[in-house]
Parts: sequence; C-alpha cells; structure tokens
Amino acid sequence: MEIERRRSKSAATIRAMKNEDLPAALALWKRTEGLVLGESDNLKTLSSFLARNRSLSSAAMIRGRFVGAVLCGHDAWRGFLYHLAVDAAHRRKGIAKLLCERSLNRLRKAGITRCSIHVLTDNDSGLEFWYRAGWTRRDNIKLMQFQLQTPKDRRQKPASAPARKMKRA
Ligand SMILES: CC(C)(COP(=O)(O)OP(=O)(O)OC[C@H]1O[C@@H](n2cnc3c(N)ncnc32)[C@H](O)[C@@H]1OP(=O)(O)O)[C@@H](O)C(=O)NCCC(=O)NCCS
Repeated sequence: MEIERRRSKSAATIRAMKNEDLPAALALWKRTEGLVLGESDNLKTLSSFLARNRSLSSAAMIRGRFVGAVLCGHDAWRGFLYHLAVDAAHRRKGIAKLLCERSLNRLRKAGITRCSIHVLTDNDSGLEFWYRAGWTRRDNIKLMQFQLQTPKDRRQKPASAPARKMKRA
C-alpha cells in the first residue's frame, strides 16, 4: 500500500505509477510538447519498465484524474528520469517538483548517487525547470545511440530461435 501521499499547491496526490495508469500516461505524453515518444512507448514495454523498477516512477492525481507523470529507473549505477509531464491545465503548482522529489527519494533509498535526464536542446521551459531544481548541464558529453533492432525485427523474430543442426562433412 502506498503510504507517501504528498500534496502540492494544487492538492494533487503523488503516488507510485501503476500499470493501470499507463494508458492515461501515454495519452498525457502524446499531447505534451517537448517530449519525443519512440518505439518503446507502448503498454508492453512500459509495463516491463515499471516491473523492473518497482515503485520508482511517479504519478500525480487530482480528484481521480491523472495529471502528471515521470518515469524513473536505475541500472544499479545511475538513475534516469524520463517523460516528466504535467497536464497544461495544472502547471506551476509544484506538481512536477513533487513528482521528481518522490522518484529521486526512491533512487536515494536504492543507493543510487546520481541521476540523469535527456532534454531536447530547444526545450527552454523544460530546461528552466531542471536548472531551477538544481540540475546541472553536462557540456562535455554527447549522447550517442545505436539501433539494436527495429520494432519490425522484434515482431518477426521468434521468442527463442530453434537450435541449428550441425552439418556433417
Ligand atoms: C516542465 C514541466 C514538467 C513543469 O511542470 P510544473 O508542474 O508546472 O512545474 P512546477 O510547478 O513543479 O515548477 C517548479 C519550479 O520550476 C520552475 N518552472 C516550471 N515551469 C517553468 C517554466 N515553464 N518556465 C520557467 N520556470 C519554470 C519554476 O521555478 C517553478 O517554481 P515556481 O512556479 O514557484 O516559480 C511542465 O511544464 C511540462 O509538462 N512541460 C512539457 C514537458 C516537458 O518539457 N518536460 C520536461 C522534459 S525533460
């Protein structure tokens, strides 16, 4: 049972994100400026993310309505926050601050010492939020990525490939 229930200036309740929240979270992320959704933003992958990072991601509710979210995870070394968003009608009431505080406290309790985020270079208001919350920009690092597989590859590949028979010479 979720025991931490902190309220912001808007009387939002902040709690752990659950699987049942994912459709509302995806809808919020899709209509939020400054976020980029990728091939991993689907119910299956997000549900697996929540299961691997139990109770780290946070949701904000007002009178039963889903108004804000942040995904949070760690790999035992660094923590990461993704997709911080607050519904446009409920901004500047401290909701994002509380969402991040909850998730960062959970990371601290897990022994994680540092947390990173990706912010689009032209997301000025997003950057301003992070600066004001005390985050610092790393200018000596460029983000590099490698595409391991496309969603199509993933759909086509069988769950476990059958063992190949060795050909005799
Ligand atoms: C960024 C975002 C999550 C902030 O949510 P929020 O609930 O309005 O933020 P908070 O009320 O907790 O803001 C805390 C402080 O951050 C700063 N801040 C928040 N939004 C800001 C903005 N648009 N411009 C400048 N400072 C801002 C302020 O100092 C604010 O305190 P104050 O209102 O007392 O001045 C929200 O604007 C949003 O969803 N933006 C679109 C998605 C996005 O950019 N996410 C971040 C991607 S990395």
